Amino acid sequence: MDVIICPDEDQAGARTAAKVAQVARQVGPRVAIGVATGSSPLKAYAALADLIRSGRLDLGQASAFALDEYVGLPWGHPQSYHEAIRQTVTEPLGLDPARVHVPNGFAGDLAQAARDYEHAIADAGGVDIQILGVGSNGHVGFNEPTSSLSSRTRIKTLTEQTRLDNQRFFESLDQVPRHCLTQGLGTIMDARHVVLVACGAPKARAIRAIVEGPITALWPGSVLQLHRRATIVVDEAAASELELADYYRKMYADLPEWQRLPLD
Ligand code: GLP
Repeated sequence: MDVIICPDEDQAGARTAAKVAQVARQVGPRVAIGVATGSSPLKAYAALADLIRSGRLDLGQASAFALDEYVGLPWGHPQSYHEAIRQTVTEPLGLDPARVHVPNGFAGDLAQAARDYEHAIADAGGVDIQILGVGSNGHVGFNEPTSSLSSRTRIKTLTEQTRLDNQRFFESLDQVPRHCLTQGLGTIMDARHVVLVACGAPKARAIRAIVEGPITALWPGSVLQLHRRATIVVDEAAASELELADYYRKMYADLPEWQRLPLD
């Protein structure tokens, strides 16, 4: 696990984007990117859009797979993740909408929709780099605590904590869906690279558990300790509970220049 501590959220976004760009350049135009909703990756998407605008990256033929979707919100619903991905990823990065996939949380047969999603990822040859945020309870995607560490895309019940965390996007708590379709932890672990970005003090406890705690379904993101190419990008506030923070800082500072993730 590489832990990169950045002075602020802007730099965390830039480093996350740099990781994605590095993998995209290695893989080539048909790169498959796993994309997350939530506020955490927004700066990274903005930094990727800058790289594209200035001609340093081209994702015109890339495909994208979202992690999750609420159950019961129709396509186009302003709070659906389908819509969030369109606004924050597809349009700013100039992706081909036909190559951007989001689980269908409005399907009549949700179990089939989950299986279809797994097939779509497999048909694209798997995800090359998965961008992740993290919930305050350590969830990644919508894999809530006690999710199987080898789970695949499926229906999950949201915890009250997650519903409260996400209430800010809805008019009232009552309107926050109770269920979702989410890629499983096993699905996420199949991505060839993973970059998780977290900023702010409310994420500090989850980051400590994920990076330095035991691997446990109680903190689902801790499964990333088993991933061979996982990068964790945090700002100082999200890093504030890390016991080995000085070691991570020194490790990154001592990397040869060519191994660092540039800010441009
Ligand atoms: C939601 C999403 C997660 C995201 C989390 C954190 O629950 N399903 O993918 O990581 O929110 O959101 P934020 O980045 O806004 O804190």
